Amino acid sequence: MKATARANANIALVKYWGKRNERLRLPQNGSISLTLEGLGCETTVETDAALAGDRLVLDGIGRMGREVQRVSAVLDLIRARAGASERARVQSTSAVPVAAGLASSAAGFAALAVAGAAAYGLELSPEEVSILARRGSGSACRSTFGGFVEWRRGVAADGSDSFAVEILPSDAWKVGMVIAIVDAGPKAVGSSDGMERSTEAPAYRHWLATVEADLLAVRRGIAARDLALVGRTAEANATKMHMAAASASPPVVYWSETTAAIVAAIPRWREEGLEGYFTVDAGPNVAVLAGEADLERLRARLAGVPGVARTLVCRAGAGAALIS
Ligand code: PMV
Repeated sequence: MKATARANANIALVKYWGKRNERLRLPQNGSISLTLEGLGCETTVETDAALAGDRLVLDGIGRMGREVQRVSAVLDLIRARAGASERARVQSTSAVPVAAGLASSAAGFAALAVAGAAAYGLELSPEEVSILARRGSGSACRSTFGGFVEWRRGVAADGSDSFAVEILPSDAWKVGMVIAIVDAGPKAVGSSDGMERSTEAPAYRHWLATVEADLLAVRRGIAARDLALVGRTAEANATKMHMAAASASPPVVYWSETTAAIVAAIPRWREEGLEGYFTVDAGPNVAVLAGEADLERLRARLAGVPGVARTLVCRAGAGAALIS
């Protein structure tokens, strides 16, 4: 039994930040993202009754320890459901090096959920696939869908209503993101640790008090194809997430000097007629949302900022799918 799936990464416009249940990866708040082409991965899962444990090869390198455990945890859910016990060989290659910190876990676990379910002969609904991906990495539940996607927080204790839904298909609005990959500084605090520390922080209350309004504004902006409404809300939302993190004790600071320089430059560029809107995840890279007409010009401007190592233009992309 062997299956291969492809999935794209996604970047959130309203962030998932904080868990209400660690084990089930249930979020404190809903989130909205854009799935992006060109930052994807391809994953093959092959069951093998002769294996004593799951094997994982990422970008040609055999992995051990925590990385394998995280993959096995998702495969265990699939096996329990399929009534199967064979272990599997998992092979995954990503379009962008995992170390670049570009939401690689989102694409990886979305592809794993799709390929794993198929390899073990499970026929799942899109919501069930999204829930499986969520158990590997929260943001992965959004990569099972393409275009603009909302991860509904849900209220059920077992997480059965915490999954993603597509809110606008990838071809319905010609937008994309320019990703500015910033020279890596010291290793950032991982998203799970960053979230945990943030939920205790003074500014986290402000985060929770305003995130519903951000979701509403971004939903409205997407429905009306109002880039300024979506973009300004995304900028404010990312800034609040990073304020919550920075107010933790000790502070969790993801921005580098280059991140701050880009964040300061983008509103100035808008005044000059170059319309882009920033967002920043749990690292120093900046993603800039823009309409098709401005993507290449924005890329050229971002590439000229000192400290930017590489730029990528990514259009809205498709959800996770089986390819064989
Ligand atoms: O799914 P995780 O654990 O990699 O966390 C993602 C956290 C952010 O990227 C900062 C926000 C988000 O919604 O993707």
